[in-house]
Amino acid sequence: MRKKLVAGNWKMHGNLAENNKLLDAVVAGVSGLRDASVAVCVPYPYIPSVQVKLSDTNVSWGGQNVSQYDKGAYTGEVSTTMLKDFCCTYVIVGHSERRTIFNENNKIVAEKYVAAQNAGLIPILCVGETLEQREAGTTEQIIEEQINAVVSLAGVDSLSKAVVAYEPIWAIGTGKTASPQQAQEVHAFIRKGIAAQNASVAENLTIQYGGSVKANNAAELFAMPDIDGGLIGGASLISGDFITICHALQN
Ligand code: 13P
Repeated sequence: MRKKLVAGNWKMHGNLAENNKLLDAVVAGVSGLRDASVAVCVPYPYIPSVQVKLSDTNVSWGGQNVSQYDKGAYTGEVSTTMLKDFCCTYVIVGHSERRTIFNENNKIVAEKYVAAQNAGLIPILCVGETLEQREAGTTEQIIEEQINAVVSLAGVDSLSKAVVAYEPIWAIGTGKTASPQQAQEVHAFIRKGIAAQNASVAENLTIQYGGSVKANNAAELFAMPDIDGGLIGGASLISGDFITICHALQN
């Protein structure tokens, strides 16, 4: 059975006091969960304190972005080995906010994915279409290009050490969730494309859904056969909501 994962993406939110309060509640709220993984991807400066808080709990942690370069004169960048120094398990690569606001293209995202894996981090590779692309009927083509960029550089087998997150851009932070059927359709498309190259990698790949996942819609999304959890933005900052979403994995 493939692994299910709920990961919180805090984005640029939080402070030491709030983070501690949130994590105390989350750790207590998910301590009884079995067969499901929970993680939080937090802003860089908080990774050391989050590590202290979450060590010896069943919640993992990770970064929201990472440099594709190992080291060097890259002012402001953070390397994969730096994330590893603080025992990150995951790192998000190719989030749509990185792609659109910070101009990361498929090539850069693929390089980040490879760098993450080389350091022993599990990349959470985000893919997804804009509303215009959906309306133009090019969703599958866009997703295929985003996945193919990674597969061409790293090989299809690399997906056995990665997580894919389908995040339709029109659903991120808008309160407009993809319907379970809409999301399932794209998840199945992703899995089928990978299965054509390696059936067992496809079968075992965790594919999360992200985009306005809330406490009141998580269960119906996670009930779909190809949706293996979620990447949660806004609702991951509200302990009760995030805990409810984590528990929805087991229903
Ligand atoms: P929201 O859950 O706030 O829509 O954000 C989703 C997201 O971008 C997670 O990476």
